[in-house]
Amino acid sequence: MKKVLIVAGSPRKNGNGDAMAAAVEKGVLAAGGEAETFVIRDKKVNGCVGCGACRKLGRDCVQQDDYAPIPAKIREYDALVILAPVYFSHVNAQTKAFIDRTYCVPWGDNGFGEKSAEKKIGVVLTFGSAPLDAMGALAAQVAGYYGVRGIKQYKSVLARGCGALDTCAKNEEYLAAAEELGRWLAE
Ligand SMILES: Cc1cc2nc3c(=O)[nH]c(=O)nc-3n(C[C@H](O)[C@H](O)[C@H](O)COP(=O)(O)O)c2cc1C
Repeated sequence: MKKVLIVAGSPRKNGNGDAMAAAVEKGVLAAGGEAETFVIRDKKVNGCVGCGACRKLGRDCVQQDDYAPIPAKIREYDALVILAPVYFSHVNAQTKAFIDRTYCVPWGDNGFGEKSAEKKIGVVLTFGSAPLDAMGALAAQVAGYYGVRGIKQYKSVLARGCGALDTCAKNEEYLAAAEELGRWLAE
């Protein structure tokens, strides 16, 4: 059974990000996988302080906050999906803090794990009127770091026109795409 870690970065409860996270989870379960959703707004996740201890010492992040159990899960699990709202043409700050902290993962133990090449990464972005091509590039950029570190299989879902709280919840096309992503991640 494939294990998928879903990182939900939206600070807005019951918004577009939450609807898409639930759809991804539904897809994972439908494909017979196991999903764990890490809702960043419910956790304390500091930014990376750039101390370099992870790299120098070959260990996980020295900061002891709610991010602490995550590196072990990323190594163990088969897939990682990052969901974020777009703020000023980037992933929002809370999601970026999480992403920055994953810097430690490749330096501890055996990087993303022995089966890195078989692992998958998904990126889901919800946003208003930003151009689709720019958001596609942003999603690829987020996934790119993990690609450099060995996770080569990547797919994204771009949900445009999602300014209102419930746009995604009402949009069958977006929900189906997120569900399909979940299925693919758990296959
Ligand atoms: C501070 C802030 C900055 C935003 N910047 C952008 C932006 O640069 N481009 C865009 O298309 N949408 C932008 N948006 C809209 C959000 O990306 C969009 O509403 C998103 O779907 C919110 O997700 P949520 O419902 O999970 O909170 C911004 C929203 C906020 C609150």
